[in-house]
Amino acid sequence: MENLISTQKFESSAVNTFKLSQNPQVFVRGDGPWLFSENDEKYLDLVCGSATSNLGHNHPEQIKAIKEATETGILHTGTRLISPYRAKLYGILSDYIGTEDISIHLLNSGAEAIETAIKVTRFVSRKQKFISFEGGYHGRTLGALSLTHSEEIRSPFIGNIGDFVTFAPYPKNEAEVQYCLEKCSEIFEYSNSVGDPIAGVVVEAIQGVSGVWGPFPTFLRGLQDLTKLNDALFITDEIWSGLGRSGKKFAFHFSDVSPDLIILGKGLSSSIPLSAVVAKGDLLQKWPPGAHTSTFQGNPIACAVACATLREIENSKLIEHVSNSIASSFGELKHDLISYDFVKDVRFVGAQCAIEFNNSAIATEVQKLALSKAKLLTYGGGRKGECVLLLPPINIDKTILQHALRSLLEIISQELP
Ligand SMILES: Cc1ncc(COP(=O)(O)O)c(C=O)c1O
Repeated sequence: MENLISTQKFESSAVNTFKLSQNPQVFVRGDGPWLFSENDEKYLDLVCGSATSNLGHNHPEQIKAIKEATETGILHTGTRLISPYRAKLYGILSDYIGTEDISIHLLNSGAEAIETAIKVTRFVSRKQKFISFEGGYHGRTLGALSLTHSEEIRSPFIGNIGDFVTFAPYPKNEAEVQYCLEKCSEIFEYSNSVGDPIAGVVVEAIQGVSGVWGPFPTFLRGLQDLTKLNDALFITDEIWSGLGRSGKKFAFHFSDVSPDLIILGKGLSSSIPLSAVVAKGDLLQKWPPGAHTSTFQGNPIACAVACATLREIENSKLIEHVSNSIASSFGELKHDLISYDFVKDVRFVGAQCAIEFNNSAIATEVQKLALSKAKLLTYGGGRKGECVLLLPPINIDKTILQHALRSLLEIISQELP
């Protein structure tokens, strides 16, 4: 009770803590895909801290890495000094990506990495305009908010948000790809004609929060071609879908493309705040020292746990597990759910599944029922809150997931009015 009272009294109301309930569970322990409440009740975590705790909770490799790093006694040095953990992460990231021909800028949050991508793109291109996409989500700091499409998220904040961004349509299926590419092409042409050309295109290879749309390989390929043609940077936001969640190392791997900038967050450390911009070649070594700093960037504990996370993804073959076991379980769920009247669609890629309902009220009701009847933590998403998102840890045991999906199916088929 004390935890609840203190949080209610002091916490900023812009935080989502009380979005679903005025009396949310307080979790005091985690193990694998499970979270345990104060009275030791067990809940299945299909949220993972917004698609972040990709290895679940209490993962031995992560805990070991954190213990080893803290035992050095150095919790922070700042970036003026070399940290062995930061150095190690650069090497491991380069191995994961499969090339040494990259440069890397570490940060703390997804939005901060987006800001960095905007700034470095402007710095090297000497151009200021960006193309972003309808339905895209890139965070909430002012630069990132400018690239985020939702009016509901943007409009409460006055001022010139996004005056350097033009939104293009994002395809909902393969048939829309050509149209969306033509619209992008028109934006490039117009920007060139008024002497304010496009510096970069920022795209999620799979739109996650807005309801798991994509990937559309020909769309990504067409976008890359347009950026090359117009001397703009091709930037993929992999904060949500990257590092295994899509069933590939990166979601852009569904297409034959090679982005100029890859933006990482969430699953990079899968826990302690850490994000990164990874550039092709030496692009991130073209700006001078001090051009873009942040006190905590590359924190040693966060880097240590990121090293352990990336190694675990490869050592335990988690990408194969996602595409073989997790995605197939979502496939079965789709098969069972799709005939219900109030279910509009079920979309899944790898370890992310969106169940789209006819409206947000039904989606919210399903989330509440899943919590109260089956102790399942789920996430709300969709452009207007019409989706329930299922985001299990990418190492979740198939039997546990399938059991949870059967419970959810029962709830949707029997409990909804
Ligand atoms: C695709 C994408 N980009 C950016 C962000 C923003 O990341 P953060 O919340 O760490 O600032 C998110 C967060 O959900 C995201 O899904």
